[in-house]
Amino acid sequence: MLSLTNDPVLGFPRARLAHAPTPMDPLDAIMRQSGHPHLYVKRDDLTGLAMGGNKARQLEYYFGAALAEGADTVLITGAVQSNFVRMCAAAARKLGRACEIQLEDRVQGMPPGQDQTGNTLLDRLLGVPIHRFPVGEDEAAADDNLERIANDVRARGGKPYVIHLGPEYPPLGGLGYIDCAREILTQTEALGVPLKTVVVASGSAISHAGILTGFRHYGSNARVFGICVRRNADQQHPRVVKRSRHLADMLGRTGLVTEQDVITTDAYIGEGYGKPTAGTMAAIDRAAKSETLLLDPVYTGKAFDGFLGLLKQGMLPDDGAAVFIHTGGTPGLFAYAHLWHVARAS
Ligand SMILES: Cc1ncc(COP(=O)(O)O)c(C=O)c1O
Repeated sequence: MLSLTNDPVLGFPRARLAHAPTPMDPLDAIMRQSGHPHLYVKRDDLTGLAMGGNKARQLEYYFGAALAEGADTVLITGAVQSNFVRMCAAAARKLGRACEIQLEDRVQGMPPGQDQTGNTLLDRLLGVPIHRFPVGEDEAAADDNLERIANDVRARGGKPYVIHLGPEYPPLGGLGYIDCAREILTQTEALGVPLKTVVVASGSAISHAGILTGFRHYGSNARVFGICVRRNADQQHPRVVKRSRHLADMLGRTGLVTEQDVITTDAYIGEGYGKPTAGTMAAIDRAAKSETLLLDPVYTGKAFDGFLGLLKQGMLPDDGAAVFIHTGGTPGLFAYAHLWHVARAS
C-alpha cells in the first residue's frame, strides 16, 4: 500500500481545484476487439473546472503558489483554443482571484470564428480580460509579453502571479501529475493488476514529466509513452528529461529519472500542433463509438491514435494494465466541427 507519510509532494502549497481521484474505467469494447485483458482509461477529462482536463491538477500547484504569495491576479498565455487558459480562468473565478489571459495565434488555417466557440466561448463566459498575441511559436516572446501585462497590473496596484510557458521555469504543475501517478498505482493495486504501461499526450511536457517522475518516486517501473502533440520527438525528448529532472530535484530525489526512462514518439503528430491527421480522426471516431469517450483533435485524439497504434504493435504487454490518460480537451471538439462537415460532404 502506498504511504503518504513524509511524502515531499505534501510540502508544496496546493489549492484544491480538481475533482479527484478521477475514475479509471475499463476499455471494454477495445479489450473485446483486441483480446488484451487489461486496458483502462484514466478519466482526467472529468476533473471539473468548466469542462475538465489535465490542467486542473497542474493549476492546483500554480494557484497554491499564487495564494501563498498573496497574488490577486493570475496571468496565463496559450493558443486561441487553449484548455489551460480556459481552466485557469475557471480556477481564478472559483478562488475569487482576477485572471487575465493572453491568446496566441498558434494554428494557421482555422476557419473564421475561432474566438467565438470552444474554449474561447468559455473564456468569454467566464468573463476574463483577453489579450491577443500575434506570435504562436515563440515561448520566450509570449512570456515577455505576459510580464508586460503583469507590469500593468502592478501599476494599477495589483499583485500578479504569472504562469510561464518556457521550460526554464519550475514545473510546479508536474506535482499534480505526481498525484495522478499515485492515484493510478492505488487503482491498479486495488484491481490486483500490475501497472505496465501508460500512454499520455506530451505537449508542454508537464503531465508527461509529472506522471513519469511520480511512478519512479513511488517505486513503479511502468513505461510511460509520451505521444508528441506539439513538437517532434528530437525536441520533445530533452524537454521531458529536463522537466522530469527538475521535478525530481524539487522532491529532493536527484537522479530519479534517467534519459532512457523518457519515451517520446512523434509518429502520430502529422503536420504539427493543432493539425489532426486521418489517424487522429479515426481514433476520435472509434473512442466515441466503442467507448463513449469524447476526445479532441489537438491532444487526446492524437494520443489515443498512439495508444491504439502501440496496442496493435504489441507494445502494451498483456500481463499487466495499460492505461490511456484522457487529458480532456472536450471544448476543442466544437472548434473543429468543420472537420466533420468536410468528412460528411465527401
Ligand atoms: C487536453 C490536453 N491534453 C494534453 C495536453 C498536454 O499536456 P502537457 O502540456 O502537460 O504536456 C494539454 C495541454 O494543453 C491539453 O490541453
